[in-house]
Amino acid sequence: MQILAIDQGTTSTRGLIADSRGHASIRCAFRHAQHRPRDGWVEHDPLELLANIEKCIQLAGPVDAIGLANQGESCLAWDALSGEPLSPVIVWQDNRTTEQIERLKMLGAGIKTREIAGLPLDPYFSASKLAWLIETLPQVAAAHRAGRLRLGTTDAFFLQRLTGRCITDVTTAARTSLMDLTTCRWDPELCDLFGVPIDTLPSIGPSAGTLGDVRGTPLGASLVDQQASLYGHGCRRPGDTKVTFGTGAFALGIAHEPLRDSDSGLISTLAWQVGSDPASHAIEGGVYDASAAVEWAKGLGLFQDYAELARFETSSAIGRELAFVPALSGLACPHWDRRAGALWLGMHGGTTRRDLCQSLLEGIALRSAEVVEAISAHLPSNQRISVDGGLARSPYFVQFFADVTQREIVTHGVDELTAYGCASLAAQGSGLGALPLSDTPRIVLPGVSMTTASAWRERFAIAVARSASWR
Ligand code: G3P
Repeated sequence: MQILAIDQGTTSTRGLIADSRGHASIRCAFRHAQHRPRDGWVEHDPLELLANIEKCIQLAGPVDAIGLANQGESCLAWDALSGEPLSPVIVWQDNRTTEQIERLKMLGAGIKTREIAGLPLDPYFSASKLAWLIETLPQVAAAHRAGRLRLGTTDAFFLQRLTGRCITDVTTAARTSLMDLTTCRWDPELCDLFGVPIDTLPSIGPSAGTLGDVRGTPLGASLVDQQASLYGHGCRRPGDTKVTFGTGAFALGIAHEPLRDSDSGLISTLAWQVGSDPASHAIEGGVYDASAAVEWAKGLGLFQDYAELARFETSSAIGRELAFVPALSGLACPHWDRRAGALWLGMHGGTTRRDLCQSLLEGIALRSAEVVEAISAHLPSNQRISVDGGLARSPYFVQFFADVTQREIVTHGVDELTAYGCASLAAQGSGLGALPLSDTPRIVLPGVSMTTASAWRERFAIAVARSASWR
């Protein structure tokens, strides 16, 4: 059995081949352009993303099934009949709808979005962007008047073009803020609230199953990348938690049921739905800037080579009262503050570039620890957290994350757990059975006391509070 999983992510599209002997390796990877037409806006070209997906399919050759992982909240408008894009992809990081969201917050609409969709009000989720498309772009409004408009997340656009079916899955629909988490259907009240015509949205189906055919090959899975990664990490039981340190850091834990605590600042969401089985629940929290902050620091010249981030000779920066809050795009979970400012606090005349890099890594770990702690309060206890992504390759980062969370951190020999999880679900969805994986997990234990970790976290919390509502 050979499965092709395509991970269509924020910065690149990667094709992975997984087979029944437990091998999983990347066959191809294509980067795409990041368009930033204005401050805070981030766009992708939908046809460039689609072409990269098609190249992955072509280069893979014959396979038994295909899976597709998507960026989650990134969305666009397209023509229902021709399938031609009517807008760029507005990427999840884009904050062009901050004002609309602030207005909705003033009206108290966050109570409804939390109650029905499990999500707080934030430009991160697709709803306000879909409304922006129809309100702002004349070609989108004209297509709507002509009864030819499709609004949706990138998966639905790709699937319409690849399989002829305009569908999305429950995990991606759950990122829009328009789906009722209990019924897994579009909610008319939320669609009205944001101004998104319900009849322009794709149909919602399972994450794995007989989803369609791509040039004769069954499409066995299509879901959000973070959820695919949760599956790839082997998280199945309530309490199992993973953090992926990609562009942002995204923590998800499997839950028994939807989250009831609306003040927690966490996201109540779905993990996946296989065929007609009930969907599994998850609790989630994210930090917008993880490797995005590292890239930014590299661009500034704070370091030249990623190898420089593997080890630091000095004791922790936070222990030396130097803190970095990675709020370059604001603070997400559990603060949901787009106006927060990134900051370094505690620099002095002797502070070096190395110190700044060290505190940058620590700031990402400390923010992620805040999220993990918030999630864990609502899940059965679990001493382990499984991690992946670029920063999980830095021994310093992983050790520091173990220190501040006081948990056992599991790292993996396989880099592409998102694509592997997607391949695994595609095998299941296509009726091909379980997909093994040859992995070499490693466990990193906390190396400082609980008292030290608490002191660091308290100091960091003060820095986070200072960054709040800065802009
Ligand atoms: O919510 C956005 C997230 O799912 C994107 O992940 O890996 O494309 O940065 P990634």
